[in-house]
Amino acid sequence: MAGVVAERGGGKAGGANRGHEKLRDGRERSASSRRWLTRQLNDPYVARARAGGYRSRAAFKLSEIDDAHRLLKPGMAVADLGAAPGGWSQVAAERVRSREGGGRVVAIDLQLVDPIPGVEILQGDFLEDAVFARVAEATGGRVDIVLSDLAPSASGQPDIDHLRILNLAEAALDFALRFLAPGGAFVAKMLQGSGERGFVDALRRHFDQVARAKPPSSRRESSEFFLVAKGRKAGSGGL
Ligand SMILES: C[S@@+](CC[C@H](N)C(=O)[O-])C[C@H]1O[C@@H](n2cnc3c(N)ncnc32)[C@H](O)[C@@H]1O
Repeated sequence: MAGVVAERGGGKAGGANRGHEKLRDGRERSASSRRWLTRQLNDPYVARARAGGYRSRAAFKLSEIDDAHRLLKPGMAVADLGAAPGGWSQVAAERVRSREGGGRVVAIDLQLVDPIPGVEILQGDFLEDAVFARVAEATGGRVDIVLSDLAPSASGQPDIDHLRILNLAEAALDFALRFLAPGGAFVAKMLQGSGERGFVDALRRHFDQVARAKPPSSRRESSEFFLVAKGRKAGSGGL
């Protein structure tokens, strides 16, 4: 957010914007980019992420999911799909204590992720065989938790965005089923839509418990939610 000057206040006393941040860096912006920046500047989770040294406000989504569902434990091996810029990996590394050499976190993204202590970073498409082989090598072929905060670039059309994220989540489940030990867990980001029920059914075939999570830090106006699947069934094969 370098270069953006934000100011407090909303003009005359009692103005509707009082207490909100206004942009005043003199740069031309589209209406949607202005909305995004204003929202970022006023978002308490963005401020908390910055203060806590987290790379993204998304870090709080994983913390809140984990606080509610008790997934990450010291010593566990975690694969984080769609990891950039790295907030989820930071939280996972703290909670499995990979920095101390207990657990292990492997982060995969199309985009470059700057180094994170205790996290092994792989840049590439998780669907590619070469990336799959690198994950297998890094983890010895076994992980306890697969996290997917994977998101495609947004089209702005809810049905299309739902289908795109569903495709990614199904591929992430396939990936998880190849790596997860019995008892392992899987978390996937989803957007509301018609394919949700079929995906939950697929999860129920492979896991003992499946829950829907909308952590407080996930914006209320967003159709985003997370599916938390625990207890990978022994002997459950691929999709
Ligand atoms: C919402 S962001 C993840 C935020 C991250 N969990 C955090 O806490 O900072 C979604 C990410 O999914 C990644 N992604 C989408 N498709 C992918 C693919 N096929 N392989 C690897 N990463 C992918 C994008 O590059 C993007 O960085």
